[in-house]
Amino acid sequence: MTDSGSLDLRDTLDGLTPARIATLYRRAPLLRKTDNPERLWASFEASSLVLTVWDGGRIVGLARVLTDGIQTAVLCDLAVEPDVQGAGIGKRLIDEILERLPGVELILRDSTLSTGFYERLGFAPVENAWVRKA
Ligand SMILES: CC(C)(COP(=O)(O)OP(=O)(O)OC[C@H]1O[C@@H](n2cnc3c(N)ncnc32)[C@H](O)[C@@H]1OP(=O)(O)O)[C@@H](O)C(=O)NCCC(=O)NCCS
Repeated sequence: MTDSGSLDLRDTLDGLTPARIATLYRRAPLLRKTDNPERLWASFEASSLVLTVWDGGRIVGLARVLTDGIQTAVLCDLAVEPDVQGAGIGKRLIDEILERLPGVELILRDSTLSTGFYERLGFAPVENAWVRKA
């Protein structure tokens, strides 16, 4: 079993490419628009924080956040490679985000695959959230 603490955590876009991101999202799976590499990459460049976890040269986890750094943060994407899910990588990414953003409310869109994960990490569902879908 992979020990998440022994893996490298990066906070830069070094080593990332649109193709690598699309592959991770397809495999996790995380439903995101990945068919336009330029737009996908632009969304990463415009993000406040991108954290990645690496097992050697392989990216095994990724979190992408938009935030004002004061009040509100949106966890846009969180994905972990299927063969290392359950090894603490998702928790490590969330812990790192919370440590870097003390006092900031972290909001996200859940999927049926991950409800138990967020519950386990102390997130609470809200009923007053609205989405205007693009
Ligand atoms: C959801 C996801 C990010 C979790 O990452 P992970 O690295 O597998 O999770 P971790 O190993 O860090 O789990 C942390 C804790 O949550 C629990 N957990 C993880 N996924 C869970 C799930 N789906 N349901 C219930 N508990 C879960 C783990 O058992 C662990 O509990 P522990 O502290 O008692 O050991 C990952 O499984 C994933 O990428 N899923 C597919 C994409 C997805 O759903 N992304 C989120 C969309 S909003």
